[in-house]
Amino acid sequence: MDSSVTVVILAAGLGTRMKSKKAKVLHRVGGMSLLENVVHTALGVAPPEQVVAVLGHQADAVRQEVEHLGIQFALQTEQKGTGHAVLCSRDQLAGHGGLLVVLYGDCPLLTDATVRRLVEQQAARPDTAGTLITTTLDNPKGYGRIILDSKGNVEAIVEEKACSEEQRQVKLVNTGMYCFRADLLWKHIGEIGTNNPAGEYYLTDIVQILGEHGYSLGALHLEDASEVLGINTRLELAEADKVLRWRTVRDLMLAGVTIEKPETVTIDRGVTIGMDTVLEPFVQIRGKSSIGPDCQIGACSIVNESTLGANVILRPFTIVNTSRMDDGAEAGPYARLRMENHMGPGAHIGNFVELKKTHLGAGSKAMHLTYLGDSEIGEHVNVGAGTITCNYDGIKKSKTTIGDNAFVGSHATLVAPVTIARDSYIAAGSVITKPVPEGALALGRSRQELKEGWVARRRKKT
Ligand code: UD1
Ligand code: CA
Repeated sequence: MDSSVTVVILAAGLGTRMKSKKAKVLHRVGGMSLLENVVHTALGVAPPEQVVAVLGHQADAVRQEVEHLGIQFALQTEQKGTGHAVLCSRDQLAGHGGLLVVLYGDCPLLTDATVRRLVEQQAARPDTAGTLITTTLDNPKGYGRIILDSKGNVEAIVEEKACSEEQRQVKLVNTGMYCFRADLLWKHIGEIGTNNPAGEYYLTDIVQILGEHGYSLGALHLEDASEVLGINTRLELAEADKVLRWRTVRDLMLAGVTIEKPETVTIDRGVTIGMDTVLEPFVQIRGKSSIGPDCQIGACSIVNESTLGANVILRPFTIVNTSRMDDGAEAGPYARLRMENHMGPGAHIGNFVELKKTHLGAGSKAMHLTYLGDSEIGEHVNVGAGTITCNYDGIKKSKTTIGDNAFVGSHATLVAPVTIARDSYIAAGSVITKPVPEGALALGRSRQELKEGWVARRRKKT
C-alpha cells in the first residue's frame, strides 16, 4: 500500500449481456461480488479513503455491497463514457497528487501483484505521463487497439468503431487499466471531447491529448490475457469463479491445509484456515468464515459465516451457519447448527441434532436426534436422544435454561420458558413444564401399568 496512490474503479454500467435485473458488478465470483473482488485488489495499492468507486446503475445497492470496506463513492448519473466516469471522481481525488490507478469493476481476476507492478513501473518512469496495461488477443474484437511509436511508447488508442481497416488488424489491445501521473491527468482530462462515432467521452483520448502536450505513455504488457478479461456474460462469470476459487485453494494448500480432491471444494475468497486442518471432498466454506488449525472438516459439510477454533471435528454432511465452535468441539454426521449458536470447548453434537440460537457449554453433549432452540445450556450437560425444546408457542419464542451437570433423559420434551437447575435429572420421556430445582429428579409422564397374564386371557377370547 502506497499513500501516494489513489484508485478510481469504474462501475457505473449496467452490463446488458448478463441478462439480469441486477447491475453487473453485483454478480458474484469466488465468493464475493465482482466489485468487491476489484476493491480488494485496489486496497493492495492504496488505503480505502483513497479508493473511489464510480457508481451509476443501482448505485444504492452497489454501494451497500462494498461500503464495509471503507472506500469512497462518486455518482455518474448518466453513462457518458469512461472519460466522463473518471471525471466524476475528480472532486474526491484530484487534490491528492501522486499516481492515479484506473480499474474496471468487472475485472475480478486482476491480481494485486499485477497492479503493484503497474504502479512500480510508472513510479520508476516519472518522465512518462502514465502506463497502461496491454495484452495481445487473437480476437481483439471490441477492444481499443494500441498504436505504438518507434520507441515502443503508446502513441494512441483507437476504439474499434473508429479503426481503419489496417488498425483493425492490430492484436495489441488496451485492457482499460492504467496508472497515470495524477497531476497531468486531472489537468488535462477536461480536454476530452465527444467527437467519435459513439458521442461518448472516451478516456482513451487522453493518450493523444497528453501526447500533444509533449508527454508519452508507457505500456505494461501481460502475456497472460486471462487476468485482465472483463466479465460480460454468465458463462464468463462461471469461468472466472473457477479461476478465483482455484487461487484460494492453492494458497491454502501452500499454507499447510490438506484439501482432499481440491477440484471438488468451494472456498470463498477471504476464508482463513489453520495449518494441518483437513478438508474432505465436496466441502464448502463460505462467507467470512475462519477455521483454526488441526480441524477435520468432513465430506460435504458446509460452513458459512462461522468461526471454528482448533481441533474442531465436523463429521460428514454437517452444516454450520453463523455460529461459533470452540476448540475441540464436534458435530455430525448430519448435524445442523442453524443460526447464531455457540458450542463451548469440547461440546459435542451427533447425528440429526439441530441447534438454533443455542449455547452449549463446555463438554456438554447431545448425541442423537435432538432439537435445541433458544437454549442456554451449561457445562457437562447430557442431553438424551430425541430431546426437544418446545421453544415456540405459535406466537412467541421462549427460552430453555439448563444448568451444569444436568442429565436430560431420552425423549424429554422441554416446554419453554423453563429452567432446569444444575445437577438435576429429567426422567426419560418426561414433558417438563415447570422449573426443576437443583439436584432434583423430575418425572413428567404417566406411570407404567402392568396387567399380568393379559396376553393369555386375550388369546382365549379370540
Ligand atoms: C473500454 C476502452 C477500450 C478497452 C476496453 C477494455 C474506452 C473508450 N475504451 O472499452 O479501449 O479496450 O475498455 O475492456 O475507454 N463505465 C462507466 N461509465 C461510463 C462508461 C463505462 O462507469 O460512462 C464503466 C463500465 O461499467 C465498465 C467500464 O467502465 O466497467 C468499461 O466500459 P465499457 O463501456 O465496457 O468500455 P469498452 O467499450 O469495453
Ligand atoms: Ca467492456
